[in-house]
Amino acid sequence: MPEDINRIAVLGAGTMGAGIAQTCSQAGYEVTMMDLTDDLVKDGYAKIRTPLEKRVAKGKMTQDQVEEIVGRIEGTTDLKGAVKGADFVIEAVFEDMKVKKEVYQTIDVVSPPEVVFATNTSSLSVTEMASVTSRPDRFLGMHFFNPAPVMRLVELIRGSETSDETISMARELSLKLGKEPVEVKETAGFVVNRILVPMMNEAFNLLMEGAATAEDIDKAMKLGTNMPMGPFELADFTGIDVGLAVMEVLYRETGDPKFRPSPLLRQYVRAGRLGRKSGRGVYDYRSK
Ligand code: 3HC
Repeated sequence: MPEDINRIAVLGAGTMGAGIAQTCSQAGYEVTMMDLTDDLVKDGYAKIRTPLEKRVAKGKMTQDQVEEIVGRIEGTTDLKGAVKGADFVIEAVFEDMKVKKEVYQTIDVVSPPEVVFATNTSSLSVTEMASVTSRPDRFLGMHFFNPAPVMRLVELIRGSETSDETISMARELSLKLGKEPVEVKETAGFVVNRILVPMMNEAFNLLMEGAATAEDIDKAMKLGTNMPMGPFELADFTGIDVGLAVMEVLYRETGDPKFRPSPLLRQYVRAGRLGRKSGRGVYDYRSK
């Protein structure tokens, strides 16, 4: 149960991994944040520090609070070492089944058997990942949303073998992290991405048809539906490659042509226009 959780290992220090590490630390947990290289771990710390420093500048937080949050996060490049002392593992590594399975095979042998593994996958099968471990009953999806420290939702994904106890433990942990959990059975895209990403995909189709400019499509959706970001601003924020990967899973898993990835989405990814992280997506961020 979460009162027994002291240290959480977060695997991956990218946008989601760093955000989840920050969320756990802010809730008072000791955190180990692991990535493959020192530079990636360093980038993870920067992703945590930058928005917190902005809050200090706005007078919403003290520098001491920032240091406390960052200080509870121990960075490492040692995967086995990261999980050895952890009571709960949240994995947010590269969104690729082969990579994720390799990670789980590696950590399963060193992590105590009672420890729960949670994957932050945005659309891959929790059941398939769990199948390479000795603990498919103590395995689930905990899908956080970007920016993880701000967004209130965590989708709890129940794989075919996930036990009720594991779900209730993750539910309690989510609440301790200040999140609202919603339980979802394993299904392509879960709830949010099943609805949100096809909406963004359709915006790319509209743009490809020349129906309106990117700016006007964003403006229409923001002013017409009160979305905080238009579909292209959001696609650039979450990563155009992430959007394409989700569409590909939806299309492949359901076989339904309504989930066909927009050719423009695919073309942007091929051109390296991945959104904010690559400097250019639908919009250009290089001069900003
Ligand atoms: N850590 C701590 N606080 C943070 C933060 C962070 N990383 N990032 C932002 N904040 C805080 C700010 O300090 C600010 O706090 P304040 O209100 O007390 O001043 C507040 O959050 C809002 O931030 P900003 O003032 O900088 O900016 P905005 O008001 O423009 O909000 C936003 C930014 C929260 C990102 C908002 O635009 C938004 O909600 N966008 C939509 C995000 C969304 O839909 N995410 C889900 C994407 S889908 C997904 O992730 C699934 C994946 O699988 C694809």
